[in-house]
Amino acid sequence: MEKKWWHNAVVYQIYPRSFMDSNGDGIGDINGIISKLDYLQQLGINLIWLSPVYRSPMDDNGYDISDYEDIAAEFGTMAQMESLIAQAKQRDIHILMDLVVNHTSDEHPWFIEALKSKDNPYRDFYIWRKPAADGGPPNDFHSYFGGSGWAFDEASGEYYLHQFSVRQPDLNWENPRVHAEVHAMMNRWLAKGIGGFRMDVIDLIGKEVDAQKMANGKNLHALIRQMNRATFGKGDAVTVGEAWSATPADALLYSGVEREELSMVFQFDHIKQFWDEHAGKWRSKPFELASFKAVIEKWQTALAHQGWNSLFWSNHDLPRAVSKFGDEGEFRVASAKMLATALHCLKGTPYIYQGEEIGMTNVRYETIDEYRDIESLNLYQERLAEGVSHEEMMQGIHANGRDNARTPMQWDDSPNAGFTTGTPWITVNPNYREINVAAALAEPDSILWHYQKLVALRKQYPVLVYGDFQPVLREHPQVFAWLRALDSERLLVINNFTAEHLTLDIPHQMQNWHGECLISNYAPRDRLAVSIELQPYESFALLIGR
Ligand code: NOJ
Repeated sequence: MEKKWWHNAVVYQIYPRSFMDSNGDGIGDINGIISKLDYLQQLGINLIWLSPVYRSPMDDNGYDISDYEDIAAEFGTMAQMESLIAQAKQRDIHILMDLVVNHTSDEHPWFIEALKSKDNPYRDFYIWRKPAADGGPPNDFHSYFGGSGWAFDEASGEYYLHQFSVRQPDLNWENPRVHAEVHAMMNRWLAKGIGGFRMDVIDLIGKEVDAQKMANGKNLHALIRQMNRATFGKGDAVTVGEAWSATPADALLYSGVEREELSMVFQFDHIKQFWDEHAGKWRSKPFELASFKAVIEKWQTALAHQGWNSLFWSNHDLPRAVSKFGDEGEFRVASAKMLATALHCLKGTPYIYQGEEIGMTNVRYETIDEYRDIESLNLYQERLAEGVSHEEMMQGIHANGRDNARTPMQWDDSPNAGFTTGTPWITVNPNYREINVAAALAEPDSILWHYQKLVALRKQYPVLVYGDFQPVLREHPQVFAWLRALDSERLLVINNFTAEHLTLDIPHQMQNWHGECLISNYAPRDRLAVSIELQPYESFALLIGR
């Protein structure tokens, strides 16, 4: 496999609204991020995926962009953004901008023009259809944020498509002028010295609207290749596409080296498998290790020699990692470290979502009024109207709602967790007095220092980056273990995914293996014996034979 500079890199995701507020308006901002660059440098990360900071009416917290080349006033100015890029670079950190080009805001000048008349030159930047025979929407396509995916424009008597909110009209990627505009905009960002792009719902841009085939449409890969050639393909940018529809075969198309498309994609099999078939994320299935193992193994194997995996447990749309896959109670620290070890010891590029490095947890607001996320709010109303109970929806929101990940970053134990001197736009998680960065920095055994160590290990040991993934103890119901092998080096990774004490029988061929313990969340282990007693959520990585 051709080596790339970013193969051993670790990415940190910042959700700007919730990261650090520098001016007391209750909303995180760019200067707040700049003030925390030393913290990120100390953590050792190399790339920041910056969720959108562009000008936006904030219907979907910035994923509705009204100007791709200006900064939202509440986040700062373009001069501050350029300063962030430069100051990060001084610390060897590169910025991945969030490229949201499946849709714009309804306040984008292109859409404002498009609304003016059917023959406006920008009309075809969006997707318009005549009403159905009964005057209703052209078809029954449903928006991800509730209701029809078609909105009626009285003036022209036509409907426009919006896969997300009614204020996020979908761009028409069958129009070459859209390509030209987007490519030029991307090139101007690259010229500012950014490190690349995270591409929002990129699997939707090739949509075949009338066939209602939104994801993975027939033009998708041609469009991405064209984008690659016209923009980032010339340099060594990092690109990661969000692709909820991706199968391993698709991921090979997106990220295969010869394909000239993207560096890697985010796939969500390990997330979706714990959603209900009908109610989706609003009704969770209990975590089950066997299927989790099977999914991770499937992806590790499929992309072993071609393509590249992205590794993540959480992001701004998902619950907190420790709440979802670990234990947010008694074993919060142990399980957060175990999850960190598992993530960094798989093959691919790890992504740390802000706050994960201190073991931040889900939040449980008691009333719906405290929630801010358009998806939770819309779906709450829609499902209640369909007869779902308040209790069931609140349970769904508590488990999987997006605001779990959007509570302010917990910096210290001062009011509002040191995030703002004003009133935060969303209530701080009340556990900030215990869980915060200041406390983590002061505690040598904290989750934070565990992450820092893992990030450093990936720089030091090529086996962690390029070693083949080989499952061991495959049938074990409580332990997830694997070997990484590169040339003569072998790294054994063992994770107890439960709160139980376990006696683990070591497979015959591994008995008495010994070596250097690279990382552990209890006392380090340097030898395997015939069986070992694992503590709750114990995990360790052993470099064999050193
Ligand atoms: C995916 C983003 O991650 C999410 O936050 C957003 O709401 C949708 N795409 C629409 O842009």
